[in-house]
Amino acid sequence: MPLIDPNVDLPLQARVGLTADSAFQTVWPYPSWIAHRGAGRLAPENTLAAFQVGLDHGFQMIEFDVQITADQIPVLMHDATLERTTNGQGPVWAATAGQIGQLDAGRWHSAAFEGEAVPTLAQVAQWMQSHGVLANLEIKPAQGLETQTGEQVASVAARLWSGVTPPLLSSFSVAALEAAKAVAPGLPRALLADVSRWAVAEAPFEAILRTALGLSAVAIVIQHAGLDADRIAAAHSAGLRVLTYTLNDAARAQALLSMGLDGVITDAVDSLGSTK
Ligand code: G3P
Ligand code: MG
Repeated sequence: MPLIDPNVDLPLQARVGLTADSAFQTVWPYPSWIAHRGAGRLAPENTLAAFQVGLDHGFQMIEFDVQITADQIPVLMHDATLERTTNGQGPVWAATAGQIGQLDAGRWHSAAFEGEAVPTLAQVAQWMQSHGVLANLEIKPAQGLETQTGEQVASVAARLWSGVTPPLLSSFSVAALEAAKAVAPGLPRALLADVSRWAVAEAPFEAILRTALGLSAVAIVIQHAGLDADRIAAAHSAGLRVLTYTLNDAARAQALLSMGLDGVITDAVDSLGSTK
């Protein structure tokens, strides 16, 4: 069944003058609950150990952050620099994949995870496909590397997820999503946005919708304080799915889901979602 009834009045869609990618309006292969960075704070973020913890709690989809190394290899890393989540130093873009592969990405979290590695996107794709877990791949470019990162990550992801349910690519960077669209148009895109920080003062939510549609995105992923029933309905009317980040409060999650929210990215893998 189509997400949008073509006979209803769609004022926002008419104003925007664009529609979202048609295939994903009718077919939405992703579940409602998505584990943030693998397993929230229960395990070292963006590691395969965290992915296993997320899966052990019943999550069938995982959000993770990807950027590129000096030798253009996509790896999982949230911060622009290595210090917080590894025993390395300096910007991710300045280190090779070989150097990053030697680092400990688990000890900062707890002794139980000592020796955990920074995974490459290739290792993650293999793990996810062999475990039947879907991906929300957040493109996290370093400043100035938006286009390069979007291109490289999307083209590698398209190869790695060939013939299976694709990763939902998301980013705060419009330039990265434009680059992803150019090199891998078949991979679904989602615009990440915090409405309160969007660079347009007037009608920021409409600007977000317009930007998402200009990217031929299939979804928006909105910081949860910026959502309400009217905004979810407006996005749906424009043909966009609506997800939220990073929501750890059960009552708020249920309220937004009852308004039609399509997905919740959460750290609370032990209390929300498909907990086992
Ligand atoms: O993708 C949703 C969320 O991960 C965005 O914020 O900083 O946790 O990557 P951040
Ligand atoms: Mg993220």
